Amino acid sequence: SRKIQLSPSLMTMDLDQFKEQITFLNDKVNSYHIDIMDGHFVPNITLSPWFVEQVRKISDVPMSAHMMVTDAPFWVKQLIDVNCDEICFPSEVANGVAFSMIDEIHHAGLKAGAVLNPETSIDTIMPYIDLLDKVTIMTIDPGFAGQRFLQSCLRKITQLRELREEQGYTYQIEMDGSTNLKHWKMISDANPDIYVIGRSGLFGLTDNIEDSWKQMLQEYE
Ligand code: DX5
Ligand code: ZN
Repeated sequence: SRKIQLSPSLMTMDLDQFKEQITFLNDKVNSYHIDIMDGHFVPNITLSPWFVEQVRKISDVPMSAHMMVTDAPFWVKQLIDVNCDEICFPSEVANGVAFSMIDEIHHAGLKAGAVLNPETSIDTIMPYIDLLDKVTIMTIDPGFAGQRFLQSCLRKITQLRELREEQGYTYQIEMDGSTNLKHWKMISDANPDIYVIGRSGLFGLTDNIEDSWKQMLQEYE
């Protein structure tokens, strides 16, 4: 089976098992996915820079922030302050601030990514794509877990792979949204580098992380 990178989406974990889940996953995953929403860019509020600090107390796993916020430069500063390892901004609100944000993130020694919502084309990030460490393709409408899988977004993953090959870019390609067994064949055909796994792919499978992990591996391998 192909080596893929897994990034559990912690907004979908059970908060009553915070420590058990993190300590169990620490030596098994490549990064943690931290959703940062402002109730404005999307109609929901989930995790925060404070949550990043709490996870850091019990984990050395790199943390990647997925910002779904209107004022991205403000939240970049907050996330740099808590030493988040990677900061990904919504490309939809980055016009006029993308270069300075990427610069600020890199200057702090962190990785910079851009996220493309379903309606956003790769053209949007072309002016600065060579500077990015990661590009995330949303395969659901952003804001909530457990939403409808948007299969047609997978073609952007294929496009990003081709572009990277042709131009020698170095970004990693990530997909976020409804990554689970039902969609496994389609996703592995598109072949992203990093799979964000949320409620339907991991945390919601059983009420015990060890059992959920086992079940996920059975399904994915
Ligand atoms: C939603 C978030 C996702 C979410 C995915 O806006 O960006 O990271 O946790 O959850 P699933 O995989 O269950 O759709
Ligand atoms: Zn996310």
